[in-house]
Amino acid sequence: MPGTYAAAMHVLAETAQRLPAIETVLDLGAGTGAASLACQSVFGSEVRLSLLDDDSALFGEAKAILPDATFIQTDLATKKDLPDADLVILGYCLGELSETDRTAVLERAWNASLKGLVIIEPGTSPAFSRILLMRDLLLKLGGHLAAPCPNSQACPIQSPDWCHFAQRVERSAIHRRLKQGTMGYEDEKFSYLVFSKTPLEPAPGRIVRRPVHKPRLIEICVCQQQKISVQCVTKKDKNQFRAARHANWGDAWAGDGKADLPTL
Ligand SMILES: C[S@@+](CC[C@H](N)C(=O)[O-])C[C@H]1O[C@@H](n2cnc3c(N)ncnc32)[C@H](O)[C@@H]1O
Repeated sequence: MPGTYAAAMHVLAETAQRLPAIETVLDLGAGTGAASLACQSVFGSEVRLSLLDDDSALFGEAKAILPDATFIQTDLATKKDLPDADLVILGYCLGELSETDRTAVLERAWNASLKGLVIIEPGTSPAFSRILLMRDLLLKLGGHLAAPCPNSQACPIQSPDWCHFAQRVERSAIHRRLKQGTMGYEDEKFSYLVFSKTPLEPAPGRIVRRPVHKPRLIEICVCQQQKISVQCVTKKDKNQFRAARHANWGDAWAGDGKADLPTL
């Protein structure tokens, strides 16, 4: 599970910056525990974890790596009384539920969350359509968008494009064999949402593509002020250029490049 773990690490690092301290986590559709394991890395080993899944075989694996966690074997579609937790996570899980169950599960997950809710889905166009529906639903339920969106208005991304990010994962020899791949790495693509229970300052902007480095110029594609634009940061602006050199796809971006290229 190196790919889903890497995606969870990215999203939870963002969550830790935007939400208050997290002491308890409810991991719904936890599988082998990738998101819970990432919670321990990001929030500390003392974080109290409850993992819920209906597949006991996967739990066997999760128990080996998370011996102190609580395990609840149940069907999310029928479980009405979810235990409360500071943070509720739905990692790569909503896509496995029927449309009707998905809405009901999300509402129950939101009610169970004390501080925030995280959704991670594969970085594909169909999964992003689900993300947009869940975004609308959580806004209607009174949620406050913490990441990745810099605002709660309509998403400016135009189909057939979709908002997603990527996390590079080095492949070990056994990982390469299991995936029957020859490359020494893979890019785990994912889309995500982090919602807060309480209002918070919106992120200034979000880098939605890998920055393009050209001689004396870096192009940064940013979602900001309800539009997607490519900002050109030149060497003339020393501070911004330094920031742009270290900027990655998925980072928050406060800069305002001097020359905007046409909106994508
Ligand atoms: C793709 S796996 C993701 C596992 C883990 N969250 C991760 O990020 O690696 C989806 C998980 O959701 C669980 N799941 C699907 N439908 C479920 C349901 N109705 N009730 C409980 N768990 C369910 C599956 O058993 C599986 O472990």
